[in-house]
Amino acid sequence: MLGANGAGKTTTLRAISGTVSRSGTIELDGKILKGGPEVAAKSGIAHVPEGRGTFVELTVLENLRLGAYTRRDRDVKADITRVGEYFPWMVERGGQRAGTLSGGEQQMLALGRALMSRPRLLLLDEPSLGLAPLIVREFFRIVRELNEKEGLTVLVVEQDARIALRASQRAYVLEVGRVALTGTSDELQGDESIRRSYLGY
Ligand SMILES: Nc1ncnc2c1ncn2[C@@H]1O[C@H](COP(=O)(O)OP(=O)(O)OP(=O)(O)O)[C@@H](O)[C@H]1O
Ligand SMILES: [Mg+2]
Repeated sequence: MLGANGAGKTTTLRAISGTVSRSGTIELDGKILKGGPEVAAKSGIAHVPEGRGTFVELTVLENLRLGAYTRRDRDVKADITRVGEYFPWMVERGGQRAGTLSGGEQQMLALGRALMSRPRLLLLDEPSLGLAPLIVREFFRIVRELNEKEGLTVLVVEQDARIALRASQRAYVLEVGRVALTGTSDELQGDESIRRSYLGY
């Protein structure tokens, strides 16, 4: 999901994850979602907010465990192992206080924490903000792997249209709360006039 500052991207993600009151309906797999954040979380929606929302006073492992709090089953260990396959350093440095991680590491930790809830739909709000290009590429490589290997659906909000279109299959351009343009990412990337007028590159 692309769009200028103030277009309503964050608000859209909040409406989906039930963290803002909304009108209209949100449907997931043909079922209408009713209720707040708990209902959304139980339905398999994980939201990594703008600015990550890492608990800086807690350790890496404590942050990961918190990600599983909506789940009833107790197999949190297995999921930590699974997250550790994507991010080995999170297990190795599990005792480190999250506030002392670098910005890129904190963004990865926020993703790891979201994965602990075993989501079906992952919402990412501007994950590339403030990160070096190399880290951004690594982040999106992992997101793509999650999509391809585990069938995880990811809705990502990005300022950087180039990165977002390369990593995604479909795109939505938001303008003051409405979808102004939608299509496959290849279509949008391939059309120069669209790129100029909507995407700014
Ligand atoms: N709770 C609220 N009450 C009133 N206005 C709000 C509220 N939340 C958001 N807005 C307004 O709605 C508009 C869209 O905000 P939103 O945060 O969704 O934008 P955005 O597309 O994520 O922008 P950015 O790229 O800057 O993050 C903004 O003008 C914002 O001030
Ligand atoms: Mg926003």
